[in-house]
Amino acid sequence: MIHYQVSGNIALITLDAAPVNALGQAMRENLLENLHKAHSDASVKAIVIGSNLALFCGGADIEEFDSDRLWASPTLHDLNDAIENGPKLTIAAINGIAMGGGLELTMACDYRLARRSAKMGLPEIKLGLFPAAGGTQRLPRLAGLQFATDMILSGTPVSADQALESGLLNRVVPDDADFDEQAINFAKDLIKRNAPRRNCSEIEVELAQAGDHFFDQARNAIARKTSGQIAPEYCLKSIELSTRLPLDEALKADVIAFRELLETPQARAMIHLFFGQREAQKIPGVTRDTKTRAIDSIGIIGAGTMGSGIAIACLDAGLPVTLLETSEEALERGLHTVAKHYDRSVEKGRISDDKAERLKTALKGTLDFAALADVDLIIEAVFEDMAIKKSVFEQLDKVCKPGAILASNTSTLDLNEMAQTTSRPGDVIGLHFFSPANIMRLLEIVRADATSADVLNSALQFAKRIGKVSAVVGVCFGFVGNRMFEPYFREGSRMLLEGATPEQIDRVLTDFGMAMGIVSVADLAGVDVSYRVRESRRGEFAQDPSYQAIQDKLYQLGRYGQKTGRGSYFYQGREKTSDPDLITLCEQLAKELGIERRDIPDQEILERCFYPLINEGIQILDDGIAYRSGDIDLIWVNGYGFPAWRGGPLWYADDLGLSKVLDGMNRYRASLGHYGELWFKPASLLERLVAENGKLSAHKG
Ligand code: NAI
Repeated sequence: MIHYQVSGNIALITLDAAPVNALGQAMRENLLENLHKAHSDASVKAIVIGSNLALFCGGADIEEFDSDRLWASPTLHDLNDAIENGPKLTIAAINGIAMGGGLELTMACDYRLARRSAKMGLPEIKLGLFPAAGGTQRLPRLAGLQFATDMILSGTPVSADQALESGLLNRVVPDDADFDEQAINFAKDLIKRNAPRRNCSEIEVELAQAGDHFFDQARNAIARKTSGQIAPEYCLKSIELSTRLPLDEALKADVIAFRELLETPQARAMIHLFFGQREAQKIPGVTRDTKTRAIDSIGIIGAGTMGSGIAIACLDAGLPVTLLETSEEALERGLHTVAKHYDRSVEKGRISDDKAERLKTALKGTLDFAALADVDLIIEAVFEDMAIKKSVFEQLDKVCKPGAILASNTSTLDLNEMAQTTSRPGDVIGLHFFSPANIMRLLEIVRADATSADVLNSALQFAKRIGKVSAVVGVCFGFVGNRMFEPYFREGSRMLLEGATPEQIDRVLTDFGMAMGIVSVADLAGVDVSYRVRESRRGEFAQDPSYQAIQDKLYQLGRYGQKTGRGSYFYQGREKTSDPDLITLCEQLAKELGIERRDIPDQEILERCFYPLINEGIQILDDGIAYRSGDIDLIWVNGYGFPAWRGGPLWYADDLGLSKVLDGMNRYRASLGHYGELWFKPASLLERLVAENGKLSAHKG
């Protein structure tokens, strides 16, 4: 786990525990032993702590968060204390990523140097926690209150140059220099100069410089974005201690607060999602021995909204892309969209001119399928029309090399049917991106009946390469995400007829923590888009004349949402205002349909939006369309704006109590008459789990 070597008067302690040098108990013990060895060696004048891996340290071992080992001696605090109050000058040599507890360890050292490409972060807030192993105390002392607060509240890593400027780092080494040599030279130089020890307990945090209202302002600045979450307040309270208490006292208070926070449902929910991402990679039939196919080039068919977004996602990951369209005009439009995206990135200072040029030249356009003959992975994103999709797959089958992976971005159509039009159904898979494809983190990987294990494995690797959170799902209408979205959207629209206003529904949902309310989502996604999806399935809703009646009406009136300036709301740009006319429309429809209008309590809105959504998720589990409830949670958090701190819809249901969900379904089934009878039938798995007192998170399909 650790190499120890003395070179001249410098002890080198080198972490070497793949994959991420996690600071689990064994690692901590080992590190402390090595520190003691160096401390007791009279010939040692300075210690350099470095890493033998590509990264410095990924931080605490999150597996321990569920066990007592987290608090087993030596703790991270003990280690930091041994470094900071030990007898020797200690230098952290940060060769790559240093996160969480790993970065906190470096802050206990006297000096820190890093490679220019290294990144440093305190991402604890993303797990519903705060950096309690000294991060909230030492970072403000080293880098100032503002920098520390920004870094801790965002959870976003900073670059070595930013860290140097703030004072967190003392030196940055160019990437092309020999880093180990530079680290030793730095230590030698410090010894030679008789450089002072730098103990954080002797540094005071200057609140005056930041201003008296610093913490109020910080609180206000994040209030909207983090509404409902408790971790940000724990972060702020702890940082505040750095301005008032001596280091050792503040650290003690941090331990108590951290223990408390770790036990909260919010932290448990976010840790569930963290592990859920790993679990989601475990797929029946895909083993360690399953091969992957090399994916070094991408073909995309259709350069519309999705095709151009997918192209950007692939180009950003360093993959060359060939974009195919049916006409010169459509192709030009797609190429232009991508080029404009990169021009804007340059304008905003996100990437250099050079990089933009390189990315643009990695994109080629074509009207000829033959240009895809050598491509490794082809993703079709043409119109959502089975006949067109089939003809595309037939042509791909003719031109693509053997072993090429043929993927569809369809959001609703039967992937098995597409696969069967080819002579190689094992090579066909669904890659369901979300809009905008270069930004949304979710990728639903759709496993068709014949999809081969190595194609599936390759898709999982591809998702990682382009930075997506992926979950494997089976074939059904809407797969997992959109299938659950359907009852959620249905209830939102129906309650408008029953007397709720768009503002009320959206407020209840955003207060719950959704990124956006359902009525606003419908306007954003396009009233025409959802109308077209409904058109293909009218038969399934025939028994419910109220089904999306208001959305159909808006469609007939040409009120397509944001894009036409009017949907359920009025829009001027992105600015939206109420539309009293909508209420009149709802009143008319309710009258025609014999729906009595009433005041709808907020709680009913919440339950009627989420219970059927959860119920559908449970049915999906029972149908075997998803492998586990955690996959469904990942999909809703990463693709639909469900609050991460609630852990996803099924985790939320477990937390709430499944019997509550079942009771709610039965209650609305009884109270909503024919409508309730149609749509509020509980899934049998829900009934079974309630009867057994079971949990979705423990359910194995
Ligand atoms: P779009 O209408 O913006 O783009 C489709 C493009 O495909 C057009 O540029 C069209 O010229 C081109 N095209 C049509 N037939 C073609 C053919 N035979 N060969 C080559 N190009 C052809 O559509 P959008 O929104 O990009 O959707 C594409 C696919 O992605 C659909 O299957 C849709 O269901 C799916 N999808 C859409 C999402 C969205 O939010 N828009 C989200 C997830 C999936």
